[in-house]
Amino acid sequence: MLLLMDTTWDIEGIRSQYPALKDGTAFLDGAGGTQVPECVIEAICEAYRSGLSNLGGAFAASRRSMQLIDDARSAVADLTGGEAGGVVLGPNMTTLTYRMAGALAKTWAPGDEIVVSELDHDANVRPWVQAAASAGVKVRWARVDPQTTDLPTGQYAELVTPRTRLVAVAAASNLIGTVPDVVNISQIAHAAGALVYVDAVAAAPHLRIHMSSLGADLIALSAYKWCGPHAGAVVASTELLETLRPDKLEPSSNDVPDRFELGTHGLANMAGITAAVDHLAGLVAGEGSRRQRLDRSFAALTSREGVLVRGTISRLIGIPGVRMVGAPTRRTGTICFTVDSLPPGEVAARLGEQDIGVWSGHAYAWELTRALGLRDSGGAIRVSLSPYTAQSDLDRLVAAVSAMVMGPVDS
Ligand SMILES: Cc1ncc(COP(=O)(O)O)c(C=O)c1O
Repeated sequence: MLLLMDTTWDIEGIRSQYPALKDGTAFLDGAGGTQVPECVIEAICEAYRSGLSNLGGAFAASRRSMQLIDDARSAVADLTGGEAGGVVLGPNMTTLTYRMAGALAKTWAPGDEIVVSELDHDANVRPWVQAAASAGVKVRWARVDPQTTDLPTGQYAELVTPRTRLVAVAAASNLIGTVPDVVNISQIAHAAGALVYVDAVAAAPHLRIHMSSLGADLIALSAYKWCGPHAGAVVASTELLETLRPDKLEPSSNDVPDRFELGTHGLANMAGITAAVDHLAGLVAGEGSRRQRLDRSFAALTSREGVLVRGTISRLIGIPGVRMVGAPTRRTGTICFTVDSLPPGEVAARLGEQDIGVWSGHAYAWELTRALGLRDSGGAIRVSLSPYTAQSDLDRLVAAVSAMVMGPVDS
């Protein structure tokens, strides 16, 4: 395994592409947002340097701007296994999910039902709960096993009924890394004729996503979690998008996917999205289409993160008073823990003083932290890996937590 990591994952080569790493910070909050490589910064700068303009104009800058959007749609389609014509781009996942909830809720009737999950980030809960309230639709809740923090699939057989119109579920938890069995959850939903909305924001930075293999009818993601700019996307089939009528301005395009996109795009960010996907595809050397190279990069990334996460957990649990939150059957490169003697915010603050960046609190895993009894005690400490995470970042984390609990070790 170490040999595989050494030969395929050029960690120093990858790190050298990230200017923000030069200040020596151990950035261990990828789940909150990653740093960006030079190629993404350069693509964004070059878009501005070359000249941008409103879309649909009869001059070169306008054509360039339209090309940036088309390229970003293709890149996101490659990242998700979707089709470019079904990629809706926008400022972030939350905004787009509210937008989709508004559009889908127009197709619901009083007495219909939807299923949301306790595991999810609130951005894949509240938009649906609020849309359901407006449409007179019943909300059913999938519960997390508080011991394992798994989202048991079996409960969906009870939760999904012939009245279910939508199942919203995460492809991974943003707080504890749990990877639910979305494939089987989708099968149960589809058997009842329901649509499946998958929040892949916390999964896409760690796992290769294929929306059709997952069974996602719509899948949401945020580029700033996978080394890109602050922008979001929702991907669906063009056939599905054609059936939906979002609220929109009268003169704006009624085409798909444009009619889901409000106002003017962050055009330079579109260049950044494409550069970020190309960067991910190039994390390990090799030839092939971008989809093939993404397959290869993510196979290596997921395997590398698994090794790093297992090693970090086994060292953290050896520190007296450190408790891991959950032990999910499948997880991403995100882990979560508490320290008996110190509130999570205090642990994060002390780590921050040593330039170790982790998150603390509920991280918008609002229902999950309530279900686990963590919300009122300051949540938990989250450590989340990124392609540029070095073993030495994690060594610093473990040493700092250990020193916090046991006092510094004399060298
Ligand atoms: C799993 C998950 N879903 C949704 C969101 C919301 O994403 P955005 O900031 O793009 O609205 C986040 C943000 O942290 C997240 O981690």
